Amino acid sequence: MTHSVSGFPADFVWGAATSAYQIEGGAHAEGRGASVWDEFCRQPGAIADASSGAVACDHHRLWADDLDLMRELGLRAYRFSISWPRVQPRGQGAWNAKGLDFYERLIDGLLARGIASYLTLHHWDLPQALQARGGWAERDVARHFADYAQAVALRFGDRVASITTHNEPWVVATLGHERGLFAPGLKDRRIAFQAAHHLLWSHGLALQAMRAAGVRAPLGIVLNQGPVDCATDTPADRERARLEDGLLIRWYMDPLLQGSYPDDVLAHLGADAPAVQAGDLETIRTPLDFLGLNYYTRQLVGAAVPPEAELTDMGWEVHPQGLTDLLLRLQRDYPLPPVYITENGAAYADTVEPNGRVHDAARVAYLRRHIDALRPALQAGVPLRGYFAWSLLDNFEWSFGYSKRFGLVHVDYATQQRRPKDSAYWYRDFMAAQQQEAVLAAV
Ligand code: FCB
Repeated sequence: MTHSVSGFPADFVWGAATSAYQIEGGAHAEGRGASVWDEFCRQPGAIADASSGAVACDHHRLWADDLDLMRELGLRAYRFSISWPRVQPRGQGAWNAKGLDFYERLIDGLLARGIASYLTLHHWDLPQALQARGGWAERDVARHFADYAQAVALRFGDRVASITTHNEPWVVATLGHERGLFAPGLKDRRIAFQAAHHLLWSHGLALQAMRAAGVRAPLGIVLNQGPVDCATDTPADRERARLEDGLLIRWYMDPLLQGSYPDDVLAHLGADAPAVQAGDLETIRTPLDFLGLNYYTRQLVGAAVPPEAELTDMGWEVHPQGLTDLLLRLQRDYPLPPVYITENGAAYADTVEPNGRVHDAARVAYLRRHIDALRPALQAGVPLRGYFAWSLLDNFEWSFGYSKRFGLVHVDYATQQRRPKDSAYWYRDFMAAQQQEAVLAAV
């Protein structure tokens, strides 16, 4: 691999990411069915500002303008998700032609502007009709997911740069089914781990269904990961950190890349361990073309956030070293396929100046420091292929509603006006410099 002066290979992918429920709105437009998030947002107290994604950034209506903006910002790669209930309102049976047409226009519009599509099939908005049948706790739902994946991949697989099955199954299982903080709002550890298993199994089924249909696009999954560090080096802390590492990292990485669940986590779960049928683990281990990692912060066991820590508006510690540590550790412990950082970014309470500018210096610093943290990993041979900033736009931040702004572009929700923040211009210039270097490297 040839590295440029900047430390990044010439073909390294630089992009930005969003997800359907967080930006699209158009909740009732053109035959879209309800998702678990539409339902969850109706529960009193579920969302901090009592909002929902019903309108969000109104991207379902404003998509063409948003694509123009992406081009102006020099984006060449865009990660987004398809809303399953928009294309198949009940999650099985009838397809919604208008929903499929929306994504067709989007993908072709991106292509026309020279932007590659990195498509995700499930970024948490399961059709509510499937939740009514038990959701991810049920095996049937996994089979429906594989059918959905195959149909979407057959339609768009020739025009996208990659297809991701699930975004962050840990979040769906743990925050959604064990802690009740995210849709579907359940609090049951046994169901949570059954859901986690079915998410993983459905991922394997989907990969096999897409490959059987001749889909050529690279196929993978996206996990949220971060190293689990100990605040103090006591045996009790070390033991807890080991368990947290098992729950967050090994519970997903082991079956995907080695075909087994970690024994210590199974022992910890006891009667709450999931029912696993013969053949499930082989299916889950279906080879990945790539692995996506979302990194925001590390997890620190045994202490509150260190007093000297710098925090984002989410209260998350800014810890770029954790990204290097994570990548090196995963490389040491697993046979890694090509890896993409599919999300990385920070929320800050941005304000618009009278002249319309948004000076988000803290976000620029966050992005720069995390991009810098990739270099040692590349030098150590981690097969890193790309990086996506979260997020292109301020958007609906799940249970935090619109109170947290992660965008490179500011969104005024009253007028839907988009204003690129300083970080958007910084990232544009950074990507341009990388491209320039790639061009020079080629001559
Ligand atoms: C990740 C999600 C993404 C966004 C960021 C802040 O867990 O994948 O949708 O909410 O966190």
